[in-house]
Amino acid sequence: MGKQAQATWGGRFSAGPAGLMLRFSESVSFDRRLAPFDLAGSKAHAAMLAKVGLITRKERDTIQRGLDAIGREIAAGKFKWQTRLEDVHMNIEQALTRRVPAAAKLHTARSRNDQVATDMRLWFKASCAELIGKIAAAQRAILKVAAKHRDVLIPGYTHLQRAQPVFLAHHLFAYLEMLQRDAGRFAAVADHANWCPLGSGAIAGTTLPIDRELTARALGFVDAAGRPRVTQNSMDAVSDRDVFIEFASACALTGVHFSRMAEDLILWSSREFNFLGLPDAFCTGSSLMPQKKNPDSAELLRGKSARLQGNLHTLLVLVKGLPLTYNRDLQEDKPPVFDSHDQTALCLEVLAGMFAGLKVNRASCAAAVADPALLATDLADYLVRKGVAFRTAHHAVGAVVKMAESKGVALDRLSLADVRTVHPTFGRDWTGAFDLRKAMARRTGTGMPGPAQLARQFTRWQKLLG
Ligand code: ARG
Repeated sequence: MGKQAQATWGGRFSAGPAGLMLRFSESVSFDRRLAPFDLAGSKAHAAMLAKVGLITRKERDTIQRGLDAIGREIAAGKFKWQTRLEDVHMNIEQALTRRVPAAAKLHTARSRNDQVATDMRLWFKASCAELIGKIAAAQRAILKVAAKHRDVLIPGYTHLQRAQPVFLAHHLFAYLEMLQRDAGRFAAVADHANWCPLGSGAIAGTTLPIDRELTARALGFVDAAGRPRVTQNSMDAVSDRDVFIEFASACALTGVHFSRMAEDLILWSSREFNFLGLPDAFCTGSSLMPQKKNPDSAELLRGKSARLQGNLHTLLVLVKGLPLTYNRDLQEDKPPVFDSHDQTALCLEVLAGMFAGLKVNRASCAAAVADPALLATDLADYLVRKGVAFRTAHHAVGAVVKMAESKGVALDRLSLADVRTVHPTFGRDWTGAFDLRKAMARRTGTGMPGPAQLARQFTRWQKLLG
């Protein structure tokens, strides 16, 4: 390729880059998805250049019309992306220049360094809004399962050992809390992205009389009161990749949540638990064992979580050793964030789909939660209500559990005489502690799994999720 072909920076070169170098350095294969944001940025920049008198209004209009035409071509899949033009920015600029001579003025007071920083910040705002929407959709699918099986009780587990009874809905509401925090993190990332770097130039701004506030406002980089938000240090603005890392971190943590929910679903859908059945549409069979129905969707949610953590790590390592300001290494910042977005979005859709088709095996849940040992702590509380110190009560109930085990009977099947040998405070009403519904009704405090609290949480989530 001759130097003519590289019109954007070819002036000081006598030879064009080697074919291998072009393949090595191109980013258009992945950054072309920034096109809508790049076009918006260029339209705003052209408007600003006209406003301050650096181009004429006529030039602005032809530039903007040209950009719109390119946007339509891209949307229709008719735009010819060229690897030799490196990236999305140069592809669009060169295509514009072929149509509109005034396009040669578009890059006035602008560098690809502040351009790409601007494009990405616009992309982050859109991406976060999309993910927040998908989180809400997944939450709604979970809420539906909770509502449909409001009365279902299951054992809650610690150390994967049966601990205390909870309503299934209480367990599902824990997922809603996790996802709600994820949504909050994406909202914070969007807010951090909401500063306009345009006007920082390559590193040190420009000598030309630009109006940074105007472009910021035109691109929606404004605070709640509509005041423009522009970055305050040109060197920081072109080298800062904090938002990339925060975004990848929010995705990675969301992924950790996917993984933990997936693990519950995998366990619960096993024959051993059998609390629920995953929808056929999100499971696969075995090529060898005809009876198998494997929870691949849940396993992939767990697996993708590793990938999301990897992307975060890639970004941290990418940036860590770089001197200020822009270094070409930073071009590698996009594949991991795009991948994090795409995989997180996919996972959220799958999560929603899985819950939408979930079958709850009410009989298995009822059988599991009927284990009276789940209410051993309630039995200790029974003694506490009669004035026994909790440590003593705990010890006594422990001895009762041991006695039941050695006699080979369920905890609530021991005789009054038997339990009285352990502690004289046990009275005729001691088995009342095993009334599951009453036991649940005693859990009245905020955040507890009692039915009154549950009703409150249903109202809260229904309101939050519309
Ligand atoms: N494609 C480049 C990137 O993503 C755009 C910025 C290029 N700047 C430069 N000075 N070469 O980082």
